[in-house]
Amino acid sequence: MCNRAGNRPSGLNMTLSLGWLSALVAGFISVHVLQRLYFPYFWRDLLFLLKVIRYGVKLEMFKLTSSVFTVLDRFIQQAQRIPNKPFVIYDGSIYTYRDIETRSNRLANVFLERVKLKKGDCVALSMNNEPDFLCVWFGLAKVGCSIAFLNTNIKPKSLLHCFNSCGAKTLIVGSGKALTLESLDGVLSSLLEDDIQVWTMKNQSEHTQVQTLLDKIDVASDRPVPAVLRSCTSLKSPTLYIFTSGTTGLPKAAVITHLQSLKAAAGFWAFGVTEDDVMYIPLPLYHSAASLIGIGGTIYLGATCVLKKKFSASQFWNDCRKHNVTVFQYIGELCRYLCNQPKTEVDKVHKVRIGVGNGLRQDVWREFLNRFGNIKMCEVYGSTEGNLVFMNHIGKIGTVGRSNFIYRLLFKYNLVKYDMVKDEPVKDQHGFCQQVDRGETGLLLSKVSALTPFFGYAGSKQLTEKKLLRNVFVKGDAYFNTGDLMAEDQKGFICFRDRVGDTFRWKGENVATTEVTEILGLVDFIQEVNVYGVAVPGHEGRAGMAAMIVRPGLTFNGQKLFEHVMKDLPAYARPLFLRLQEFMEMTSTFKQQKFKLVQSGFNPSTVTDPLYVLDYQQKSYIPLTDSIYQSILAGERKL
Ligand SMILES: *[C@@H]1O[C@H](CO)[C@@H](O)[C@H](O)[C@H]1NC(C)=O
Ligand SMILES: *[C@@H]1O[C@H](CO)[C@@H](O)[C@H](O)[C@H]1NC(C)=O
Repeated sequence: MCNRAGNRPSGLNMTLSLGWLSALVAGFISVHVLQRLYFPYFWRDLLFLLKVIRYGVKLEMFKLTSSVFTVLDRFIQQAQRIPNKPFVIYDGSIYTYRDIETRSNRLANVFLERVKLKKGDCVALSMNNEPDFLCVWFGLAKVGCSIAFLNTNIKPKSLLHCFNSCGAKTLIVGSGKALTLESLDGVLSSLLEDDIQVWTMKNQSEHTQVQTLLDKIDVASDRPVPAVLRSCTSLKSPTLYIFTSGTTGLPKAAVITHLQSLKAAAGFWAFGVTEDDVMYIPLPLYHSAASLIGIGGTIYLGATCVLKKKFSASQFWNDCRKHNVTVFQYIGELCRYLCNQPKTEVDKVHKVRIGVGNGLRQDVWREFLNRFGNIKMCEVYGSTEGNLVFMNHIGKIGTVGRSNFIYRLLFKYNLVKYDMVKDEPVKDQHGFCQQVDRGETGLLLSKVSALTPFFGYAGSKQLTEKKLLRNVFVKGDAYFNTGDLMAEDQKGFICFRDRVGDTFRWKGENVATTEVTEILGLVDFIQEVNVYGVAVPGHEGRAGMAAMIVRPGLTFNGQKLFEHVMKDLPAYARPLFLRLQEFMEMTSTFKQQKFKLVQSGFNPSTVTDPLYVLDYQQKSYIPLTDSIYQSILAGERKL
C-alpha cells in the first residue's frame, strides 16, 4: 500500500487534484442542475423581486418625507426631460410630452378660472379613449381634484348613483358618442336638480345648461398652475375613483390612492419594458388596466403609447407594424379575436415582444404564440381595488402569477376551502377558515395590513365591509375577499380557476348579478329572478343567464323583456339566456342557489325548463332550440 502510494505519488496527486477539480466542477454542475431542476426560475424570480422590493422601498420613503412624487409629477418631469418625444399616437397624429403638458395646463387654467374648481373637489369624467381624456385627467389633477372615471356604457339609472357615491359635483362629458347629450337628456334635469354642473368638450352645446370647454381652451393661458395645488402629502390620499361592479347592486367607486397608482405605473417596468418600447393601448381608459398600468406605465418609463379609440382585430397587426409597437395590453378575449382573424403571410412580421394583461386562456395562449411568434405574455392578476397583485413575469402558459417564499412574506395571502353549493368558505368547528393543500383549488383571500392596505369604496362603509372577511384564521384578523378560486402548484405558479359569488366577467367587463337582478325585477311579469353566468365553449368569462319565475296569472313576454334590458342594461350585462322555473332552490343559508344552475348550463336537451335566448334580429327573447344551441357551440351565432 505504502509502496504503491510511494511509487505513484505524482499520479495520486494528479488524481487527487483532478478529483478535487472534477468534484468542484461536478458540484457546480449539480448545483446548477439542481437549481435548474428545482429552482429553475431562481434568477428570474430574484431579479424580479429585487425590482419589486426596490420600488416598494422607494414608496416607503415617501412616508418618511411626507411628500409624494406622484404619477402626475413624473409626467411633468418627463415633459421637461423629453418634451419632444412622442407620448401618445392617436388616429395617425403624434402628441408629444410637451403637447399634452401644454394642453393640460390650459385645461387646468380653465378649470380654475371658468369652472371654478378647487383643490379637493371630485369631478366625474365620461369620455372615450382620445388624447383629450389624458389632458382633462391631468388638468384636473394639476388643480388638485380627484377624478371619477365613468364607464361610457353606463345607463342613466346608474349614472346618478355614481355621483352620489363619489360626491362629484361636476361632470365633464367627451365630444364622442358614448355618454353623449342624447343619453344625457334623460338624466340632465336630475343632475341639475342635484346641483351638478355639466361641461362638454365641445365648441357649442345643444343644451343651454350644458357649458362648453373646447372654446375656452384655446384662449386660456398655458402657464402651469401653482404646484401647491397638486402637492400631496400622503400616499393614501385618493387620486381617482374607478367604478367596479357592485355586489350590492349598482356600481361601486373603488378608491384609487396615489399608492395604488404608483404601484400600477411600475408594472411595465417590472416586466422589463423600457423607455424605447412602444405600447399599444386598445382597452378603455376608464378601466384601471389602461389608465393606471398603460398610461401610468408609459409615463413612468418616458415611453410612447399608441392609443386606440376602440380595439379592432383587423387593424391590430397593421397598427403594430406601422408604429413599431413592442408591447401591447390585452384581455383574453382580445387575443382570441386576433386568433380568429384570417391567417396572413405576415402574421409573424412585427416587433411585438411583450403582452401585458389578464384572462388569457391556455388554449388561446398556445394558439396565439404559434400563430404570431414568440411573444412573452405577462399575466397580471389583481382587481382595481384589491390589495394583492400576482404577476406572471416568467410567462408560463396558463398561469396568472408566480409566488415564492419571499413573495409570501411580502404579500400575506391564503387559499381557503370553499363550499360551492353553499356558496361560502368552509369553516372548522371553531368557525375559522381552512387552508387548502398545495395544488388544490381554494378561495383567494389577501390579508389587510399596513403593507397591503385596502382602501375600500367611496361612500357607504357597508360596501367596503362586504368585501372583507373577518376572523378568518384568528379572532380579529381581516382579509380582502377576492371572490376568485385559484390554485397554486408545487413550483409556486398560480392558476385562476373560477369566480364565485355575485359577479362574473363577460366581454372584459364585470357583471354584477345583483345589479341585473334588480333591473329584471322591475318587469311586471317576473316574480322572482336569479342571475348567474354560464360557460360558453369558445368564449372567455361567462355569459349572463337568468332563471325566473313568472308571476301567476301573467305570461312571459320576450319582446317586452328585450326592450327593458336594451334600455336599462349595457350590452355586456344583458342576460343572453333565460330559464323559466316553477320553483327556485335556496342554499342552506337562504341564498339563491346558483351553483346547480351554473352547472346545468343552457343545453335544451338536458335542461327540462323552457329556455330562451336573446335575439337582436327579432328584438326579443326567443325559444332556445337545439339548432340554435348547436350554432352557439359551433361559434356561428354571435353572442
Ligand atoms: C372649436 O373652435 C376652435 C376655435 O375657437 C377651433 O380651433 C376648433 O377646431 C373647433 N373645434 C371643433 C371640434 O369644432
Ligand atoms: C420603425 O422601424 C423601422 C426600422 O427599424 C424604421 O425605419 C421606421 O422609421 C420605424 N417607424 C416608426 C414609425 O418609428
